[in-house]
Amino acid sequence: MLREIFEQPEAIEKTIRPRLSLEDSRIKMADEVNIPAEELRRLNRINIVASGTSRHAGMAGQYMFQELAGIPVEVDYASEFEYRNPAIGAREITIVITQSGETADTMAAQRLAKQKGSRTIAISNVEGSTIAREADGVLYTYAGREVSIASTKAFSAQMAVLFLFAAYLGEVRGQLSHEALKSWIEQLLVLPQKAETTLESSEPCRRLAESFQHAEDFLFVGRAIHYPIAMDGALKLKEVSYVHAEGYPTGETKHGPNALIDENLPIVMVMTYEPGNPGSLLRYEKNLSALRGFKNQKAQVIALASENDKQVPALADHTIFVPQTSELLAPILEIIPLQLFAYYMAVIKGLDVDKPRNLVKSVMHE
Ligand code: F6R
Repeated sequence: MLREIFEQPEAIEKTIRPRLSLEDSRIKMADEVNIPAEELRRLNRINIVASGTSRHAGMAGQYMFQELAGIPVEVDYASEFEYRNPAIGAREITIVITQSGETADTMAAQRLAKQKGSRTIAISNVEGSTIAREADGVLYTYAGREVSIASTKAFSAQMAVLFLFAAYLGEVRGQLSHEALKSWIEQLLVLPQKAETTLESSEPCRRLAESFQHAEDFLFVGRAIHYPIAMDGALKLKEVSYVHAEGYPTGETKHGPNALIDENLPIVMVMTYEPGNPGSLLRYEKNLSALRGFKNQKAQVIALASENDKQVPALADHTIFVPQTSELLAPILEIIPLQLFAYYMAVIKGLDVDKPRNLVKSVMHE
């Protein structure tokens, strides 16, 4: 798992680089998407269906598609998809996200979507996997084989490819100007290096795990596109260290979980911000206020903050820094320290981090 966490800069680079056309500042994806531009221009909705960590990538993707391509997105658990009788119609596509390409629930959801007349796009890490073969278009993540049961490098590569697809759709649909696309491409080019820098949090994360090794419950919180990262941080901790953890939208803590919050419930808060982005700055202010509230309730707070932030470290008990980037790309960096924290928690407890009990790499039966 540690090796795969450290392979993330390369996984992101290999997933992003071949799809960037630097001469004309465009995203090269038409062949892989394999759906005519005319049809993509007419889309009314995107459905994203996946399981576990892949669904968390889809949740982050929702913000990317809505912001860059102006298309409403619904995200479903593959295992729940059929139960809500999904009203899929014309002018929609269904994106199925799956590292293995063999997950039974996701495959069943894909078949249902097709049966209802939807085109499907698969995002998979395994070439020629069943789900990839059954899709109209396939966007591969080039993370390399992922062996450890907990998904790490495939997750960041999934978010990277979702971002590229959202930007591609934004361009095809005339939502994203040439200048905007150029600026995104510049940011994508430096993302692998930023992931490398984020890996420097490994030693601070190990020390954190040492301090918190006896904690029995954790709450992970984030707002907007950072909420799926809180969800995945909690999932990683549960599955590899067997410590109970929940992911929650920060603002929702007022609606129930606050009753639990005291010195025995450490809270991991995702609190990065993007300078010059009013929405992000507003969320940052709200996060500071939530952090003060948690401290008043005596909670121990571990914060993920943007490098150079002075306010968060003054309030939180522990701060892990991540490099500055745009809010839509930040999740790709933020997940790294949370993976490292889960990893060290498991190792300190003497657990087999690569093979957590009761889990398999691909869930091939419903
Ligand atoms: C968690 C994890 C699982 C998988 C899920 C879907 O770390 O690995 O939650 O994400 O079983 O698997 P794929 O992506 O292969 O469909």
